[in-house]
Amino acid sequence: MPTISIIVAVDQRNAIGRQNNLLCHLPADLKYFKSITDGHTIIMGRRTFESLPKGALPNRRNIVITRNKDLQWANVEACVSLKEALALTNGESELFIIGGGSVYRDAITFADKLYVTEIQNSFEGADTHFPEIDKDIWRLISEEKHSADDKNRFDYHFLTYERI
Ligand SMILES: NC(=O)c1ccc[n+]([C@@H]2O[C@H](COP(=O)([O-])OP(=O)(O)OC[C@H]3O[C@@H](n4cnc5c(N)ncnc54)[C@H](OP(=O)(O)O)[C@@H]3O)[C@@H](O)[C@H]2O)c1
Repeated sequence: MPTISIIVAVDQRNAIGRQNNLLCHLPADLKYFKSITDGHTIIMGRRTFESLPKGALPNRRNIVITRNKDLQWANVEACVSLKEALALTNGESELFIIGGGSVYRDAITFADKLYVTEIQNSFEGADTHFPEIDKDIWRLISEEKHSADDKNRFDYHFLTYERI
């Protein structure tokens, strides 16, 4: 079985989105996301897929979960459940659940690893959140702190957790 990893960017109140969009544009996090997921399978909910500006993300196998069997998109495999999506994968070392809120809530119950970018800000008007990371279940295994700069408006921390 591959390692099932979740990758997410949260703010200081665990918010992840607003009006089917990200909370802010943080180029360093987009670069980090690409470096971690590049070449791997990514699994996402239909709303997250629809929020991507250019459709399927390149150089990754894109799987989208939707209950609507009529939906199809270029360079995407559609599945009716997370279970069906996971069954499609084989022989890979690690795959990534990339959101959004409803898919994270399901996946955190069985995922092996979390890649969490903590954006050091609280955004107003957020409507989607990541579940609480229970420290009795998740052990912090790495932490990298970065300061805001001319391209990235907020401080941000790259955290990695493994299931205990
Ligand atoms: N900060 C981050 O790292 C990050 C990452 C990703 C997304 N986001 C944000 O999260 C928000 C979107 O999250 P969301 O919770 O609204 O939507 P979502 O989880 O992306 O997508 C929800 C849709 O996925 C399908 N789905 C979800 N669970 C399913 C299941 N168990 N079985 C079958 N289908 C299932 C359904 O599609 P149908 O309705 O078609 O059946 C559902 O309506 C946006 O604001 C986005 O920008 C943030």
